[in-house]
Amino acid sequence: MTQITVLNHPLIDHKLAILRDKNTPAWYFRKTLVETAALMSWHCFQHLNTETVAIDTPMEAMQAQKLPELSPAIVSILRAGNGMADALATVLPEAGIGHLGMERDAKTHKARAYYAKLPPEIAKRQTILVDPMLATGGSAIMAADQLRSEGVTDIIFLCLVAAPEGVSAFHDAHPDIPIITAALDRQLNENSYILPGLGDAGDRIFNT
Ligand code: PRP
Ligand code: URA
Repeated sequence: MTQITVLNHPLIDHKLAILRDKNTPAWYFRKTLVETAALMSWHCFQHLNTETVAIDTPMEAMQAQKLPELSPAIVSILRAGNGMADALATVLPEAGIGHLGMERDAKTHKARAYYAKLPPEIAKRQTILVDPMLATGGSAIMAADQLRSEGVTDIIFLCLVAAPEGVSAFHDAHPDIPIITAALDRQLNENSYILPGLGDAGDRIFNT
């Protein structure tokens, strides 16, 4: 059963209101998206594995917890995932960053994969897959399929706004991948856009 966590936090809600507002200009949208993802990262990174290592403080020897040598991977679904990935990488600079290019067809709304570049030995890394929008779920499912085909077992999907239709489809395809989202919205419209949503995330970030 897919575990979905809807983050409930006043500052995330405030920033989400800025992102949803159609009058928010691209520069402010981009900046707010990064800030929101940074806030969400705290919850997301609670799932990271650490290893016990011996270190010396200036005072004495001790056992401490550190990330494994093969650091976690942050995988961005292009284009819109990049703003979130940058925010996560700011607090997790050790991460390997991957990119999966997915684009929805304007008519069928089905995702098409057009690019893939992943960190080496990704199968051994904990992987955080990021995309602001989970609408029909097609892009996230295809991205998770690709990670699975590379042998990745430990995946978390982080998004900003999810539609119930996308959550259900993602659950059917990848029941073992937890979803962390800032909001679970009402439904999709006839063009498979999320309602109330925030519009086209890629266009709003990149002012296209
Ligand atoms: C958007 C968004 C997701 C996808 C979600 O990307 O960033 O990747 O749509 O929709 P889905 O759940 O129905 O697949 P888009 O395809 O518009 O590409 P872009 O980021 O290049 O604008
Ligand atoms: N992609 C977006 O950017 N927004 C939506 O509402 C649906 C898909």
